[in-house]
Amino acid sequence: MTETLTIALSKGRIFKETLPLLAHAGIVPKDDPETSRKLILDTNRDDVKLVIIRATDVPTYVAYGAADLGVAGKDVLMEHGGEGLYEPLDLHIARCRLMVAGRPGPEPRGRLRIATKFVNIARRYYAEQGKQVEVIKLYGSMELAPLVGLADRIVDLVDTGNTLRANGLEPLEHIADISSRLVVNRASLKIKHARVKAFIDAVAEAVAQRRGMND
Ligand code: ATP
Ligand code: PRP
Repeated sequence: MTETLTIALSKGRIFKETLPLLAHAGIVPKDDPETSRKLILDTNRDDVKLVIIRATDVPTYVAYGAADLGVAGKDVLMEHGGEGLYEPLDLHIARCRLMVAGRPGPEPRGRLRIATKFVNIARRYYAEQGKQVEVIKLYGSMELAPLVGLADRIVDLVDTGNTLRANGLEPLEHIADISSRLVVNRASLKIKHARVKAFIDAVAEAVAQRRGMND
């Protein structure tokens, strides 16, 4: 019997944008996570399952081998550290930028307070600049923090800039360009090498084709 290949995905934009890439690799889920409450989705292939988890949990599931492969934003991977993960492919989906943002105007004096869910990235970024800052961990709605005096700056994802603009904030410093990556458990890569490699190759081909079409 063939061993199962388990792929970890998050609901929402990553699932939607990964679907056509999976289809190219011959994998079609039997359920839609937006309407189903199932966390393990069967696919048209008996030997391939999808697990639906929070975006920030994907590196953890894959690093521990609970999933063989996964799709995660580079932001999430940078924050996690990527230990135990092999990152063979940029999928060029869910593209955005990781930025420092704040109210327009001069930088407040004294030690800056930075609100973010990316505490490791923020600490690293300011440490590299030799700046002493206080990092405040939030789990969402970072844009609110400078408006109510919780923080001077936020470190957050920016795509169109609409969320910042709607809240009277502006992008100030670019930290990194972000897109989603295919990640693979290092042991799965060895133990299930032929299957994992075939999957990576099929997805790589789909990414190249889609990029060719968009050029
Ligand atoms: P969690 O459920 O852990 O809070 P989340 O709500 O951030 O995660 P999504 O909003 O689906 O999950 O984001 C998943 C990934 O998509 C992010 O890690 C990032 O790489 C990318 N992303 C987030 N916001 C945008 C955006 N506005 N435009 C494009 N890509 C984005
Ligand atoms: C993300 C991110 C920003 C917003 C940026 O949130 O956290 O708030 O997108 O996109 P924009 O520059 O195009 O406005 P998302 O829409 O994913 O909601 P979330 O906070 O629930 O993740």
